[in-house]
Amino acid sequence: MSISSKKIAVIGAGPSGLAQLRAFQSAANNGAEIPEIVCFEKQRNWGGLWHYTWRTGLDEYGDPVHGSMYRYLWSNGPKEGLEFADYSFEEHFGKQIASYPPRAVLFDYIQGRVEKAGVRKWIRFNTNVTRIKFDDRTREFSVRSIDRDTGDETVERFDYVIVCTGHFSTPNVPEFDGLDKFNGRVLHAHDFRDAVEFKDKRVLIIGTSYSAEDIGSQCWKYGAASITVSHRTAPIGYTWPDNWNEVPLLTRVEGNTAHFKDGTSQDVDAIVLCTGYQHHFPFMADELKLKTANRLATANLYKGVAYVPNPQLFYLGMQDQWYTFNMFDAQAWFVRDVILEAINIPSHAAMKDDVVDREAREDALEDDYACIRYQGAYVKELMDETDYPNFDIEKANEAFFQWKKHKKENIMGFRDNRYESAITGTLSPIHHTKWAEELDDSLESYLKN
Ligand SMILES: Cc1cc2nc3c(=O)[nH]c(=O)nc-3n(C[C@H](O)[C@H](O)[C@H](O)COP(=O)(O)OP(=O)(O)OC[C@H]3O[C@@H](n4cnc5c(N)ncnc54)[C@H](O)[C@@H]3O)c2cc1C
Ligand SMILES: NC(=O)c1ccc[n+]([C@@H]2O[C@H](COP(=O)([O-])OP(=O)(O)OC[C@H]3O[C@@H](n4cnc5c(N)ncnc54)[C@H](OP(=O)(O)O)[C@@H]3O)[C@@H](O)[C@H]2O)c1
Repeated sequence: MSISSKKIAVIGAGPSGLAQLRAFQSAANNGAEIPEIVCFEKQRNWGGLWHYTWRTGLDEYGDPVHGSMYRYLWSNGPKEGLEFADYSFEEHFGKQIASYPPRAVLFDYIQGRVEKAGVRKWIRFNTNVTRIKFDDRTREFSVRSIDRDTGDETVERFDYVIVCTGHFSTPNVPEFDGLDKFNGRVLHAHDFRDAVEFKDKRVLIIGTSYSAEDIGSQCWKYGAASITVSHRTAPIGYTWPDNWNEVPLLTRVEGNTAHFKDGTSQDVDAIVLCTGYQHHFPFMADELKLKTANRLATANLYKGVAYVPNPQLFYLGMQDQWYTFNMFDAQAWFVRDVILEAINIPSHAAMKDDVVDREAREDALEDDYACIRYQGAYVKELMDETDYPNFDIEKANEAFFQWKKHKKENIMGFRDNRYESAITGTLSPIHHTKWAEELDDSLESYLKN
């Protein structure tokens, strides 16, 4: 079968799905024959989580809202760690910008590259994929989707499926005794939108990872009375502001009083469960469903992308993420070259060995610095096998190392630092206003540098 007669389904038009479209467009631009591509996106626009929505719970069609981002979100890592190697911040904005862009600025950047590439025509917006099955006889996938405007359902056949639906949208929601009788508001981070709601409130946060740290910081910045962070494993341990404390795990709630494992208690007004997310693919037939923990070496994915039981199926961006946009790119370029038959998939046994090896190497990592190096090396490994523009991974790692150091020095001030681009070598300007004092996070304000 010729490559141009093959059909590919890309599910999702967030950063991963868009990376996949850009990868194919770039090959076509260089004269390669490419397959027919259909990208299904259930939202009305591209950008995935970066396409902000005020909605929570169910959307206007009764489907779960995908968005987990909140109004005043700024990048939690330096932009120098996520920059596209084929489309720098300087190319997009016409100048270098500060290192921790707010959501709207990153959305604009993501959008700029795909507008330039002209791939919007491949995307069917407002179209939800509801079922994917594989026929062992024809070796084709059937993809059922619904056009949410007309209600029309379609079933189409594809040779390859690339799942790019993200894994930070379906919340992991544990139970705690007494939550059903709590006299305040209880929500998961997925439903957190506007920190102003928590002004003057005593906020209890469960969990110690990025959502906990950042939602706590947002609430603090917008005037919460106090922040209490409750941990299952260990406290976060930064030097927090005076009205911030860390406590052991919540054991039960009585009225407005939260009780913790060490016997202490506090009165609180709101509880935010920052307890992570699930890899959730309700539209996949069971044998095609990726089942993995949120880790760097995902289970069952050869080279972190090809589904070992059926390598006509790929998953992008399923790893826990230090690297993001440029890692999705490296993965997308790799998957593209497998489909274009420029890269071979090895035997089933060799794919399994690859996964086991990656898991073992991850299990042996001692600290976050080693994890960053590990994921950087993974991005480099994929980059080296394709024509994705090779960039200086050591320099990008260095931006992450500096970021960690800056967080330790001043958790409410780390976003006031700047780093050097691994793509253009330019040093970012310092933002005109300190993060803790900057209440205007619009694109216009951020670009005033
Ligand atoms: C609160 C929060 C903050 C974050 N902040 C940062 C940050 O500062 N920096 C950073 O680099 N990363 C950040 N991330 C990580 C984030 O995962 C990546 O930046 C990125 O959005 C992942 O891209 P993705 O395309 O893999 O997934 P997503 O962005 O989740 O996109 C998936 C897309 O698939 C679509 N989709 C889902 N199901 C279907 C279906 N059945 N049919 C059709 N379409 C479907 C969705 O509508 C969505 O558009 C953050 C994540 C969260 C949750
Ligand atoms: N501004 C930003 O850019 C920003 C803001 C927020 C989030 N994010 C991104 O969003 C992604 C997800 O981060 P996340 O923090 O939501 O998830 P996460 O990194 O998976 O962390 C989950 C947390 O929940 C805790 N937890 C899980 N189950 C629990 C239970 N039953 N009881 C108590 N604690 C429990 C875990 O504790 P243990 O350690 O004990 O397992 C862990 O601290 C990350 O990629 C992050 O970068 C970015």
